[in-house]
Amino acid sequence: MIHHIPNILTKQQVAEFRALMDTAQWVNGKVTAGTLSASVKHNQQLSEQDPLTHHLSDLVIQAIWNNPAFQTAALPHHIIPPLFNRYDEHESFGFHVDNSIRLIRGTSQQMRTDLSCTLFLSEPEEYDGGDLVIEDTYGYHEVKLPAGDLVLYPSTSLHEVSSITRGSRFASFFWVQSLVRDDTKRHLLFNLDETVRSLRIQHGDGYPEVVKLTNIYHNLMRMWSEV
Ligand code: NI
Repeated sequence: MIHHIPNILTKQQVAEFRALMDTAQWVNGKVTAGTLSASVKHNQQLSEQDPLTHHLSDLVIQAIWNNPAFQTAALPHHIIPPLFNRYDEHESFGFHVDNSIRLIRGTSQQMRTDLSCTLFLSEPEEYDGGDLVIEDTYGYHEVKLPAGDLVLYPSTSLHEVSSITRGSRFASFFWVQSLVRDDTKRHLLFNLDETVRSLRIQHGDGYPEVVKLTNIYHNLMRMWSEV
């Protein structure tokens, strides 16, 4: 399931990020790619050692832990500290799959990548091309979101960033190990959670069916979550 989560960052925050990123040192994006994906990866990144990366990464982490829509859709257990990339004209990242296991920066802890996230830091009008194209069982989905919005998709999907034909595209990207590994189960929980939310608005928290469905939600979480 592909989720669009709006307003992870405010426009003001995006402007502050972009001002800092404009003066940053960019390095070749191949540094964090596996050998196969390195051959199709043509972009630039902020170095993982750069203090600016840590500063911006902390702000993104804070924003996503405080975002109820992100929490409901991702059910995060571990989050890889976000990285930052830019694509200038003629740059692209051809079809690839993200590594299944990654090391959490600055630790010896490994995590499984269940969900891939892209947080857009450029407005769609700022560039042409540069769509995130995600393949799933229904075909190809082209994603280009307003600055501050995020897309969340299963890391099992093949995906690409198509070539930029005008302007520059800035984004943050990171991975989530979910409490619920299976995409179908996570999606059922998401739908149940949304339904309970809407019943609560219509009937109030004390409505007996709200209590029963909330009980079912938590019992499914107990059955399916890995902590
Ligand atoms: Ni990727």
